[in-house]
Amino acid sequence: MRVSINKRLMEFIDTHTHLYLSDFNSDRTKVIENAIAAGVNTMLLPNIDSNTIDQMMLLCEQYPKNCFPMIGLHPTSVKEDYMIHINLVRSTLKTHKFIAIGEVGIDLHWVKSFFDQQCEAFIAQLLMAREYSLPIVIHSRDSFHEIIEILKTNRTSTPYKGVFHSFSGNLEQANEAISLGFKIGINGVVTFKNAAISEVIKEIPLANLLLETDSPFLTPVPYRGKRNESSYLIYIASRIAGIKQISIEEVAMSTTNSAKSLFNLP
Ligand code: NI
Repeated sequence: MRVSINKRLMEFIDTHTHLYLSDFNSDRTKVIENAIAAGVNTMLLPNIDSNTIDQMMLLCEQYPKNCFPMIGLHPTSVKEDYMIHINLVRSTLKTHKFIAIGEVGIDLHWVKSFFDQQCEAFIAQLLMAREYSLPIVIHSRDSFHEIIEILKTNRTSTPYKGVFHSFSGNLEQANEAISLGFKIGINGVVTFKNAAISEVIKEIPLANLLLETDSPFLTPVPYRGKRNESSYLIYIASRIAGIKQISIEEVAMSTTNSAKSLFNLP
């Protein structure tokens, strides 16, 4: 499959990409150039933990028009000492500008331990998102029910804003997330054969979808198995266009507008 795009007409936003990780140390500049050449002018960088903040901030300083940082503690980095990291998230929020709190949530796939700490870290970061009026980028892995319970218990009259990144649930769960104010983040998994997410995408309005690569992970077909990068976002957009029987231009326009408005981007 070759996807050719008219760059003048199409602009994409990769709403979730970890381009600051060491996987890109040898060719990061080239990877960013590839993305921009593919029309992916804007890349949103979710933080992982205290060890990734400096690298992420450096990349955003190098590409102030293209790369924008989030701040948060990833659930797989939550251990006994999670409060140290949470305090760093809080103090960094005071001194730097971020487009979102992320990525945060609960992961019961990779780590079944520290469940209580994961919940407490998630709730603390929900409160920070509220205090700073920032959207929330949620990582949910085998934990949809637990996350929804926390969101419902902690909600106020102001609806949530954010995204369920790398959404892998069913239609009912997608609708539940949307009803709480969240968008649905779609990545390379949609390009895999018989991807269950296709059925969900068919049923929910385009306006609720955001595009993401989650680079360097979850590489779409035709590069599955290799390192992922933000320029491959167009394969995800192309697949969504196929599923919804619309043009890739329409997918680009809708997802870019939704991302700009959710993350308050220039
Ligand atoms: Ni991620």
